[in-house]
Amino acid sequence: MRLELVTHFERPRLRGTLPNLWPEFMGHDNVVQAFWPQLYDLYPDFQLWVLDREATSRRAIGYACSVPVHWNGTPSPRGIDWALTDGVEGTPPNALCTVVAGLVPEYRGRGVAEAILRRLGAVAAGHGLESLVAPVRPTWKERYPLIPIQLYARWRRPDGLPYDPWLRTHERLGGELLASAPRSMTIAGRRAEWEEWTGMNFPEDGEYVVPGALVPVHFKNGRGLYVEPNVWVRHAV
Ligand SMILES: CC(C)(COP(=O)(O)OP(=O)(O)OC[C@H]1O[C@@H](n2cnc3c(N)ncnc32)[C@H](O)[C@@H]1OP(=O)(O)O)[C@@H](O)C(=O)NCCC(=O)NCCS
Repeated sequence: MRLELVTHFERPRLRGTLPNLWPEFMGHDNVVQAFWPQLYDLYPDFQLWVLDREATSRRAIGYACSVPVHWNGTPSPRGIDWALTDGVEGTPPNALCTVVAGLVPEYRGRGVAEAILRRLGAVAAGHGLESLVAPVRPTWKERYPLIPIQLYARWRRPDGLPYDPWLRTHERLGGELLASAPRSMTIAGRRAEWEEWTGMNFPEDGEYVVPGALVPVHFKNGRGLYVEPNVWVRHAV
């Protein structure tokens, strides 16, 4: 593996070369849907593509998206939705907020995530921003959908590092776990939509554990509501 990290400004043609890494329902947060089409045009310097120069194909093997925000030191319970609304609208920007990072599965667990975080820190510093903040989606939370995020984020391994692999990588690089963002994303849809997004049936109202969801999806009057919790992390740059 020979890693190359480039910004979208440098290599715009890489857009569209990465397979979808997310469960289908994750694409249906209204704030994200409204903001995403402008992301690459408004902030091309803050979007990263990861390449493996030794791979035969010229496709991206990972990416990270971030936006400059005004961070007043108080982590918003709205996480990603905050970053893409109040965060980007706040002036002056003084922090870079990472809203997503992902790698194709073959490249996970090989230290690439660390390289992405380091590069994001360098990008932030290069733009005169003081910190790198992130509403982090803990990668193993989906295994524990019934455990409150506040508890899960506190779980530690015997070596003292976070139990969750992605939180662990952040902390190892100097990130400080600040607070949970209990309403980082909100996804609402009709029963039929949720059935299409998940391939499951939801015959009656109630709480459903759905693959890839960090908490159960709550159905009431035939509508499903998923409110995703994340964990705020801050890195000084
Ligand atoms: C989040 C993500 C980019 C992190 O990348 P990563 O490669 O898993 O992260 P790291 O290389 O730092 O690995 C972190 C830990 O998990 C372990 N790990 C991760 N993937 C692994 C795998 N496939 N096999 C074995 N171990 C793995 C690593 O060994 C490491 O453990 P350690 O702390 O004991 O050394 C990646 O997991 C991913 O793309 N996930 C799906 C998308 C996602 O959820 N993104 C985050 C929200 S935006």
